[in-house]
Amino acid sequence: MKIISNLMVTGGSGFIGSNFIRYVFDKTNYEGRIINIDKLTYAGNPDNLRAIEENYCNRYCFERADICDFDALEDIFSRHDIDAVCHFAAESHVDRSIKRPGEFIFTNIVGTYNLLEIARARMDRFVLFHHISTDEVYGSLGKRGVFRETTRYKPSSPYSASKASSDHLVSAYHKTFGLPVTISNCSNNYGPFQFPEKLIPLMALNAIDGKPLPVYGDGKNVRDWLYVEDHCDAIWQIMNGGKRGDTYNIGGNMEMENIVIVEMICDIVDELCGLLGDRSRRNLITFVKDRPGHDRRYAIDFSKLTGHLGWHPRESFQSGLKKTIRWYMDNAAWVGRVRSGDYQSWVKEQYGE
Ligand code: NAD
Ligand code: DAU
Repeated sequence: MKIISNLMVTGGSGFIGSNFIRYVFDKTNYEGRIINIDKLTYAGNPDNLRAIEENYCNRYCFERADICDFDALEDIFSRHDIDAVCHFAAESHVDRSIKRPGEFIFTNIVGTYNLLEIARARMDRFVLFHHISTDEVYGSLGKRGVFRETTRYKPSSPYSASKASSDHLVSAYHKTFGLPVTISNCSNNYGPFQFPEKLIPLMALNAIDGKPLPVYGDGKNVRDWLYVEDHCDAIWQIMNGGKRGDTYNIGGNMEMENIVIVEMICDIVDELCGLLGDRSRRNLITFVKDRPGHDRRYAIDFSKLTGHLGWHPRESFQSGLKKTIRWYMDNAAWVGRVRSGDYQSWVKEQYGE
């Protein structure tokens, strides 16, 4: 397999992308450079990579750019002689895609197309295009069953439909043009640096502050949860050993009803911060109007990844969740800055606070 020298990471200032860059520099034997391309939307945060900028200044470079801007991308590819892409950049929040789908179509579909086209023009020296996707492309499961790589795509939200579309484009560039690609479809991530619009950081921060905990519908929707560093490890293994043209599911073997997670968060915050007066934070749980098109259950069969590459998740949910909540408590300055931007208007629009 050809060696990667100049790896472009798109969306590297977001939650998973920043954890991935940290993982590659700190925990693998990669010796090349990483060029992080990020538009810095509300979800992108340069603070997430301050330590990397300081510790790896010769091998890390940040370029602020929009993946929908073809000319800007071409310029960056050629200036840095990019030979591989790990593509995270996306609009990622389902609720926002229900309110305003347009950005999801541009970034997730057109942006991916731009990257593929430029990679195709450099095929002679191009090593790999790894595309980060989601289990949501498969739609919703009933009480039984799991998503396999062969499961038919049936996306429910504008977000998952845009990701499904980008997956098909990536796969078509492999079949039609021979572009070396791999695709991974992962379940719900949690961990440090996640923007607090997503379930776990939203509930953790609200619980710490003694605010209502808005659970959609009956709270019995099921997600599969994976600690973000385990996801990063899986991506790196697929990039290095995965079969070109193949898709790999990634999951945590940790199916949980939302309400159970929210109760666990309440109990951990009670333990770490003390009760709220003399009451458990479980009293803050408030059932609110359901998300339109809300998928009922996700569950992932990742036996292909385990069988081919020996990967399996390492972090237990109980300890990963506690570590994550502690991280939000210990990083009040980060939380304060993140919440001072677009966050307040989003919370108002979504929850009417
Ligand atoms: P995120 O919202 O935290 O970060 C997205 C990043 O992309 C941000 O830094 C943002 O500034 C950047 N970005 C957005 N539009 C851009 C554009 N037009 N040009 C350049 N940069 C742009 O997202 P995340 O949760 O870290 O997810 C990363 C990827 O992983 C996404 O592709 C998502 O679909 C996928 N994924 C996420 C999860 C999850 O649980 N969060 C699970 C499976 C797959
Ligand atoms: O499955 C992978 C996907 O996981 C990723 O592709 C997405 O980028 C990521 O956002 C995530 O999507 P979800 O919609 O599953 O994540 P979210 O954190 O928004 O919601 C998780 C569950 O919690 C879901 O069933 C909706 C519910 N929920 C969420 C919020 C924000 C609530 O009950 N209340 C809330 O306030």
